[in-house]
Order: sequence, then C-alpha cells, then structure tokens
Amino acid sequence: MKIFRFPALAAAALALSAWLVAQDALAQQIDPDQPTVLITGSNRGLGLAFARHYAAEGWNVIATARSPDRAHDLAALAASNERVLVEQLDVTDYARIAALAADYQGIPIDVLINNAGIYGDRDTQEWGSLDPEAFHQIFAVNVLGPLKMVEAFADHVAASEQKKIISITSGAGSVSPDRVAGGGVFYGISKAALNMATRKAGAELAERDIIVAAIAPGLVLTDMLRTNRPSLVPRAHTPEESVAGIAAVIASLDHTYNGQPLNHNGAPLPW
Ligand SMILES: NC(=O)c1ccc[n+]([C@@H]2O[C@H](COP(=O)([O-])OP(=O)(O)OC[C@H]3O[C@@H](n4cnc5c(N)ncnc54)[C@H](OP(=O)(O)O)[C@@H]3O)[C@@H](O)[C@H]2O)c1
Repeated sequence: MKIFRFPALAAAALALSAWLVAQDALAQQIDPDQPTVLITGSNRGLGLAFARHYAAEGWNVIATARSPDRAHDLAALAASNERVLVEQLDVTDYARIAALAADYQGIPIDVLINNAGIYGDRDTQEWGSLDPEAFHQIFAVNVLGPLKMVEAFADHVAASEQKKIISITSGAGSVSPDRVAGGGVFYGISKAALNMATRKAGAELAERDIIVAAIAPGLVLTDMLRTNRPSLVPRAHTPEESVAGIAAVIASLDHTYNGQPLNHNGAPLPW
C-alpha cells in the first residue's frame, strides 16, 4: 500500500485510529441504567466537586478538563469509580466540542453542566486599562463556549430522561441596582451575557422539552475566589456545600421553571 512509503504518515494514522477506538471505548463504558452528567472544567474547584457529587450518587460522569494529564484529583476519582470518564475539552475549541459530541452520539445525557469559566486578570478589566484581548478571551470561555456546548449536545440531552442544561452564572452578572460594584468589568458583563445566552437556548430548546437554567453558586472557596476576590474568602462556602445546593436545585427543576436565574439555594437571583 502506498501509505507504507511514508512511515511517519502511517504511524500518525495508526495513532489516530487507536485514539478514536479508545474514545469510542470510553463512551461505551456508560451504564445505560444510570443517569449521565457532562461537566466542563471538572479538574478543580466547583467542577471537581460536581464530578465527585454525581459520582457518589452513582451517575455516569463525563468529566471534561482542558489538560487531563495534569488533572490529578480527577484521575484519582476516575481510578476509584469506573463510571467517571475523563475527556479532554477546552470550551473554546469548537472542533473538539463537535468531536466529543460525535464520540457520544446516541448516548443520552441527562444533565449538561456548563461550569468552566474564567475571571480574567483583574488589571485588564479596570477602568482606564480595559484590554480588548481580555474581553474577547473572557467572552469566548464564559459565553460562546457554553452556547457551543448547548448546540453540540442538545440531541444527547433531548434523548435523555431528565433533559436539563445548566450554566453556572454569578451574582456578578446581576444588573439589579443593589448588586453592581466596580471592578471585574468583563467578568460581570460576561455572566450577564451568559444569563441571556441561557434564556435564548431555553427558548430554542423548549419545544424539545429541554429545561435550560442559569444557577449561581454563591461565594465559593476555589482558586477563582482566592486569586481575584481574596477579601471575600472568609464569607465563602466550600465547593461541596455549594454543589450540594445546586444539585438539589437541578433535581427540583421541572417544566414550571420560567427561566429566572437562580441561586444555589433555589432563591431567584435578581438581574
Ligand atoms: N468561586 C466562586 O465564588 C464563584 C462565584 C460565582 C460563579 N462562579 C463560577 O463557577 C464556575 C467554576 O468556577 P470555580 O470557582 O470552580 O473556578 P476555578 O477554580 O478557577 O476553576 C475554573 C475551571 O474552569 C476551567 N476552564 C478555564 N478555562 C477553560 C476553557 N477554555 N475550557 C475548559 N475549561 C476551562 C479550569 O480549567 P484549568 O484548570 O485548565 O484552568 C477549571 O477547571 C465558573 O463559571 C465561575 O465563573 C464561581
């Protein structure tokens, strides 16, 4: 065969086919008798707490991370629970989103959690030094990434029993008069945009019986809070407390849900 005249090409083709088989094999490990959750950014912080929570509940957990080779806590969880499947995913890589959706084609996903998010460097989003590059990066991760995830995985969610898509928003995105403070300009705007993106997705997907909700975790002790809002650390919940609350809210969502962003305790998030 001609391909053997190009050993490097043949090796690459073999590696690619082995990788594709491995990907299919991972999807094949889904237990159809258990519900399935897909979580973005699940190597640390709230995402890792979501993965641990649903794994402990017996769910299939498709736990995605930008760099699985560095996701040691997630690897430990997967090593102790065969229903935790670790997949590489950067939510700004739209080709990878599509490829992952194809790997799981035909597999119902009960709950999709758009958790991955960035605050961005504080210096790049202060008045007087607003940095357009930072704006685009924050929007790519916090707004367009979740939208592309919803678009790619809508069929999987529609095929499931629970049919729920959740975006992790923030009180920083609230436009309520008593909630808007200075600083973190792009982050706050991105979460307000995420709330509208969530409403738009909900409007599109209502006819397929899919519930799309934005839920805020409160102040949570993660790298994001420690790095960007250290003064708020003493008031923060643990990731486990926040995730327990959010999971209860997710479980309670039904078709009476009106699209209002919610807090981790189920109370409406003013916006
Ligand atoms: N902590 C809070 O108080 C708080 C409050 C309100 C809302 N939130 C929201 O909660 C969510 C989780 O935040 P956290 O507090 O857990 O933050 P975190 O500890 O900083 O974790 C952020 C996660 O997002 C991932 N991520 C970043 N960029 C990504 C990309 N392009 N593609 C895929 N994954 C990416 C990170 O992966 P890497 O490790 O590869 O960077 C990490 O897993 C975010 O949406 C955040 O805005 C948090």
